[in-house]
Amino acid sequence: MDPRPIGIFDSGLGGLTAARALEALLPGEDLIYFGDSANAPYGTRSLEELDRLATANAAFLGGFGVKTVLVACGTVSSTVIGQVAERFPFPLMGVVEAPCRAAASAARGGRIAVAATEASIRGGAYVRTLRSIDPALELFPKACQSLVSVVEAGHFRPGDPVAEAAVAAELGPVRDFAPDVLLLGCTHFPLLREIIAAYLGGGVTLIDVCRETALSMKNALTAADALSERERGERQWFTSGDPELFSRYAEFFLGRPVRARQHVNEVLSLTRMKPEKHIASVQ
Ligand code: DGL
Repeated sequence: MDPRPIGIFDSGLGGLTAARALEALLPGEDLIYFGDSANAPYGTRSLEELDRLATANAAFLGGFGVKTVLVACGTVSSTVIGQVAERFPFPLMGVVEAPCRAAASAARGGRIAVAATEASIRGGAYVRTLRSIDPALELFPKACQSLVSVVEAGHFRPGDPVAEAAVAAELGPVRDFAPDVLLLGCTHFPLLREIIAAYLGGGVTLIDVCRETALSMKNALTAADALSERERGERQWFTSGDPELFSRYAEFFLGRPVRARQHVNEVLSLTRMKPEKHIASVQ
């Protein structure tokens, strides 16, 4: 038995998919969430920036005495997670291994498309991991960076024309590839799940990396006898962006009230491309 909380971080709203999955699988656990919206998107960051941001995020969660952290960010999980994890006494679980196993098993030697951020696709961890599980798989990695900014700007509800246009613009080549499985290798993308599923049509299995990782975390905590024994855990929500906006989006996604507080890492704001540029390109 281990009553310490579980930490979750992402560049913003994407990790809500991890929070939702953990709440469903492990309702007794205390969860501390940090979404670094002020520094999103992470997918266009350099490895050095990702290292600094992920280290600051893990240190912030470490301050709550967490027993483990779910790195609900495909970008960090595909790049710097190993070196960042060495700096902390608690484990960091990324969103690459378990989802790749689930994707390979669903594809049964067939065709898998991987949709993720620019940095994740460049890093190649999803493709390497899938190949190591089944070298016969046909793989199609596709960077879909603009979808992150679209979600961060609140365009993720079914029927949202900006989200629909962005999905069509980014996933056109994926639809042409006609995959058996689409691995949603960025945690922001399951927020667009209904729009993506409608665009691709039936017959494509969508794998949500956070759901698979949450299952794996549940197994790991159970095996280590490190589950909390309470019936219902507490939740704390932090964002480096606007807490009201975060709360509104999180409420919509989770379907219940959320009151987020602001936390800003001292590390940066690094200068970077404005998210609006991504959105403009798909409108
Ligand atoms: N949601 C994160 C991921 O899974 C980060 C996306 C971004 O900020 O570019 O990669």
